Amino acid sequence: MPSSRQVAPLAWGGSPLAPPRWQLVQRLEGPRLASAVETSASYADPPARAAPADLLVAGDSLRLAQAWTPGSLSCVYIDPPFGTGTVRRGRGHDYRDVEDDPEPFVQWLSPWLAASRDCLCATGSLFVHLDYRAVHYVKVALDRIFGRDHLVNELVWCYSVGGKSRRGFGRKHDTILWYARGKDWAFYPEAVRIARRGGSHMRVVLDEHGQQVQEKTDRKTGRVYRYPVAAGKIPEDWWTDIETLNHSDRERTGWPSQKPERLLERLLGATTVAGDWVADWFCGSATTAAVAQRLGRRFVTADRAREAVALAQARLARRFAELPGVAEAAPPLEVWHESAPEGDPANPTTSQRSSA
Ligand SMILES: C[S@@+](CC[C@H](N)C(=O)[O-])C[C@H]1O[C@@H](n2cnc3c(N)ncnc32)[C@H](O)[C@@H]1O
Repeated sequence: MPSSRQVAPLAWGGSPLAPPRWQLVQRLEGPRLASAVETSASYADPPARAAPADLLVAGDSLRLAQAWTPGSLSCVYIDPPFGTGTVRRGRGHDYRDVEDDPEPFVQWLSPWLAASRDCLCATGSLFVHLDYRAVHYVKVALDRIFGRDHLVNELVWCYSVGGKSRRGFGRKHDTILWYARGKDWAFYPEAVRIARRGGSHMRVVLDEHGQQVQEKTDRKTGRVYRYPVAAGKIPEDWWTDIETLNHSDRERTGWPSQKPERLLERLLGATTVAGDWVADWFCGSATTAAVAQRLGRRFVTADRAREAVALAQARLARRFAELPGVAEAAPPLEVWHESAPEGDPANPTTSQRSSA
């Protein structure tokens, strides 16, 4: 199995930026967080621990990604700012996206891509979630960082909620680039099978056991192919069965650009097993962490916006309490705040509003 089962101690990784100080502000112990403790310990280097907790960090995640133990993660999913140049508004929360200029955007994002590759174990995978604005630029950067032949899939996630265009077709898909660290990446397709839909080119008939099967006949060879409907199928690389969150969705936290948990369930389910470590360097409302927690994966996630981290903390604590089965077995959750040296322009975490 991948080396992701090893502990993932934090150690300062030699970033060109001055090392920050890290503060452990809360440690939440299961079950049901009964023994939550507040702590104000401050470290120049967070200590390596024998049995590390899941981590939620407030601060610039690049420092964290570069400091993370190389080869220790099974999956990294990132849903970074898309480079829209706008303020992304949610319900009561917002964050400033990076400038709408693809070249600087790629330059800005590339250190996270390189750090993510280094953190992945030999069988690990990186998912980079983007839209039409910058995906082609970032794909070239990823080809350079991982190697072109390490692109596993260009996943197209389609949805229909949201505004329509009168001047063109509605832009209703995002692209998720999947790159593998090595040639022998982990893939568990059986964990993410989906229902077979009717209305395809195949006819539905009953087989000799009375089970529904989709059936097609190869015209050239005459060979008959049969697929049991109940067994479902492995999804293609375009997904239309996961709708984006609508305004009244129960999952909604109010954080802008929140992604649906089902999307993360598919990505994590397809590439990790229980106990594997997962990272999301652009946490937002902690969708990745919430799904990882529910599926029994370990996680590290971070956001420079303190507001996002507060939302994430509440979401993870709530989920922890709501899922007693999970909580019994769940590792502790630690919440860290990073405070960079005074005057470090890369650290806006002391300001009220986030900016990307
Ligand atoms: C698109 S949102 C992520 C949404 C998330 N996937 C969810 O489901 O809620 C991008 C996030 O990246 C954060 N961010 C931007 N620059 C960052 C940085 N340098 N370090 C950490 N987080 C950053 C923003 O504050 C924002 O919350």
